[in-house]
Amino acid sequence: MSTETDLQTAYRHLAAQYDANRDQFDLSGLLDRLQERMPEQGLLLDLGCGAGVPVAQTFLASGWEVVGVDFCPAMLALAAQHVPAMRRICGDMRRLELAPNRFDAVTFVYSLFHVPWSEHDALFQRIARWLRPNGRLFFTYATADYTGEPEFEGWIDFMGERLFYSHSTEARLRQQLTAAGLQIEAEERPEIGGERFLWVTASAAEG
Ligand SMILES: C[S@@+](CC[C@H](N)C(=O)[O-])C[C@H]1O[C@@H](n2cnc3c(N)ncnc32)[C@H](O)[C@@H]1O
Repeated sequence: MSTETDLQTAYRHLAAQYDANRDQFDLSGLLDRLQERMPEQGLLLDLGCGAGVPVAQTFLASGWEVVGVDFCPAMLALAAQHVPAMRRICGDMRRLELAPNRFDAVTFVYSLFHVPWSEHDALFQRIARWLRPNGRLFFTYATADYTGEPEFEGWIDFMGERLFYSHSTEARLRQQLTAAGLQIEAEERPEIGGERFLWVTASAAEG
């Protein structure tokens, strides 16, 4: 079975439990700081949006429009209840076709680490095309703090399911972002819900 199918199955099993426990992972401080760096309103693309909480919910409440993408229909069904105003796309974020120069921000919250790091170059390059000048990319990156390895690809238990995780070294991540024309603006490593990830904000060129 492919990584993709396994992850989709795992999230189908996990959706209700994940949603019921989502408030263990409080992102309010991170999202407040992200919003301070951005215009008051705009269009957000949320990749791996899950049930739309808290990212779409926070941005919609501030007057943004949000397009959420997820390949798990059970997660999107929960999103339809929590954030009916979010436009939902069911599909694999790696195969999305979108118009260039359209989004003010793109987020991957707890989702990029489910995509093999060898595919991050291609994703970052497409995101750089989808972003408007000076748009922001915000994402969670797994590091040795989570996996115990400087570079990792494998399966880790989360809420009783085996999930695929992948990350490269932080040096290679920086090279991948630079190669896509994205400049790192902020990095934070807070402990949230007993986990520590790297949270990166990067910006697209001013145009
Ligand atoms: C840990 S959940 C995070 C959900 C949400 N961003 C949050 O903060 O709660 C990861 C989500 O990414 C989705 N996902 C993982 N890989 C994906 C892919 N290649 N394309 C689309 N969605 C994906 C999963 O279905 C799941 O809903």
